[in-house]
Amino acid sequence: MEINSAQFVISSKIVSGCPSPNLPEYAFIGRSNVGKSSLINMITGEKKLAKTSSTPGKTQLINHFIINNTWYLADLPGYGYARLSKETREKFGDMIKGYLLKRENLLCTFILIDIRIEAQNIDLEFMEWMGLSQIPFVIVFTKKDKLKRTQINTHLEAYKKVLLTKWDELPQIITSSAETKEGKEEILDFIEKTNTLFQP
Ligand code: GTP
Ligand code: MG
Repeated sequence: MEINSAQFVISSKIVSGCPSPNLPEYAFIGRSNVGKSSLINMITGEKKLAKTSSTPGKTQLINHFIINNTWYLADLPGYGYARLSKETREKFGDMIKGYLLKRENLLCTFILIDIRIEAQNIDLEFMEWMGLSQIPFVIVFTKKDKLKRTQINTHLEAYKKVLLTKWDELPQIITSSAETKEGKEEILDFIEKTNTLFQP
């Protein structure tokens, strides 16, 4: 899929503030600083569409973008940022879960994982919650450029092994880098294919 247009639409705290659910939608989620906003900019080819920062906790609302005037992309706040107060973390958690449970046009959620870091409970628990809530997701490993080629496979295999202790089957897995643009085509092809399943 070629991206011809990508525009910011609105920031919201709750589902009722989101754009009308008349188009297929995809959400990007993961721990703070994992590279959600960078990945969104990479796949849309718009360097400044989503605000990125080396300081975790940059994205604090549900940010909607409209792509090619045919589908929505949602950039969500990172979960589990340790430096936020427990209260703020819970507020973000409730906001994210409320959105994921209630957003009727959400076709798939991309859960981002930093490829350098070994499997963390917070991500595994989040995936478990997604599974129990029957919300479809794909795992996208980010920051692949930060590992040596020989390390990439070792990290991926270790992660899959952990997943298979909890799941019977592996979800779809995509590896990516906002630096090299790897993963762009695979993500956009997946979205293009999934868009055809949307029933307004
Ligand atoms: P929050 O909105 O704070 O939750 O963070 P985020 O998940 O949106 O992360 P963001 O895209 O702001 O990126 C965090 C930092 O990681 C920035 O300094 C990015 O430049 C860097 N980064 C993101 N993706 C990549 C990548 O693929 N490769 C490299 N080398 N750096 C990356
Ligand atoms: Mg962000």
